[in-house]
Amino acid sequence: MERHFGIWLAATALGVGASACSGERTSEAAAIGESRTLADVALPVSINETMVALVTYASEPLWLDAYEPPETEAEWRNAEYYAYQVAVGGKLIQIAGDGPHDAAWVAESDWIAMADEMSAAGMDALDAAKARDVAALGRAGDRLVAACEACHIEYKPDLPSMGIYKSPDYPPRN
Ligand code: HEC
Repeated sequence: MERHFGIWLAATALGVGASACSGERTSEAAAIGESRTLADVALPVSINETMVALVTYASEPLWLDAYEPPETEAEWRNAEYYAYQVAVGGKLIQIAGDGPHDAAWVAESDWIAMADEMSAAGMDALDAAKARDVAALGRAGDRLVAACEACHIEYKPDLPSMGIYKSPDYPPRN
């Protein structure tokens, strides 16, 4: 059941399959043809919304300066899923959505490089989570936060949300 829900979410994030649930949205699947390229793909929401609902949500629990490390099998499995989301999220934010600056941002080569760095840090976290290695997860989390900050310093200088932890299901470090 959870698995099906996850697949549904992933499909919605890519803008396909949404028509099954909403009559107003057309399915991009209809447009798939030989000439279709990545440039024809758009996020169904803004990059900012993707940051809040996906990137921050998944990355916070992986940052062990702020959160208790996973202990149980279920927590480790969640850490794996969050790491996947961060790794994929670093690629998703290379696709513009409907935010006013999205198209300009994703056209910048340094944006792409910094998003790739975020994705790579997510893969480090995935390796660490699969190995159930708290120290390695800590290092991956530090690399991840450095990747967030590098891009925010350049593209979102006031860092407004970086100190706010929103993931409700993880115990914060005191
Ligand atoms: C490649 C650049 C880039 C990377 C990497 C990046 N961000 Fe962002 N982020 C932005 C930009 C630009 C915005 C502002 C978007 C807007 O205002 O439309 C943003 C917005 C946000 C917001 C919403 C801020 C608000 O005021 O609503 C949060 C939270 C956030 N990012 C967290 C993160 C975290 C956590 C990471 C790392 C895991 C990260 N970001 C990685 C560029 C980046």
